Amino acid sequence: MKRTDLAAIRASRRRSRLIRFVVCLAAVLLGGGLAQDQFSFMPPDGPDVLASVLEACPTCEVVAELSIQERSAEEWQEYFTEEAALTGRSEAEVLTLISYLAINFPSTGVRDLATLPRGGRYLVMMNCQLCHSIAIPLTQTRSLERWLEHRRTSPHDSLSLNAVQWDTIAHYLTYNTPLPLEAIPEELRMGAGGY
Ligand code: HEC
Repeated sequence: MKRTDLAAIRASRRRSRLIRFVVCLAAVLLGGGLAQDQFSFMPPDGPDVLASVLEACPTCEVVAELSIQERSAEEWQEYFTEEAALTGRSEAEVLTLISYLAINFPSTGVRDLATLPRGGRYLVMMNCQLCHSIAIPLTQTRSLERWLEHRRTSPHDSLSLNAVQWDTIAHYLTYNTPLPLEAIPEELRMGAGGY
């Protein structure tokens, strides 16, 4: 067979596999009326941690005021430390929070917690199980640098994610993975490793 035929067959197999996964994913998500509870095994992302930090911090500014400020991750950590708002938080939660804020703020149009830019948990859930199991990204041991580079590998370079979203995903995965495979619900592990 000619090379081009083979390439065409491969491409069409890839396409049908992609369609199968998208259909599966749709079934998974629609199953319980957007059954996001199924993903509660995933560690909290920036917006999740921010919500619980602010809930316990009456002296912190409200989210709309915070969202228009520009600070580095270290400066965000200082801000919340001065408010004594980080006590009892794990290192992963703190790093996830301050990196999310440094990457995503200042942001326009944030009125409340519901209008925050999406965090890593949500972005991974929506974008990283269309072609393979979500277990693929969640069980990797990778440095931030490697996750940032991942954006440029095919086919990931053609996903409709902007630089801020990729940055958010890369930091989230760096601080919160690897998860043990057993932590991932069995129905979401399908095809893990086999793409
Ligand atoms: C359009 C389909 C598609 C989407 C969407 C996708 N991937 Fe992949 N991913 C692949 C394919 C195909 C491979 C296998 C590539 C290979 O082995 O060269 C892969 C492999 C991987 C690997 C393993 C790479 C390795 O070297 O072992 C990681 C990690 C990964 N993807 C992370 C992600 C993350 C994070 C997202 C979401 C931002 C994502 N993927 C979304 C298609 C996709």
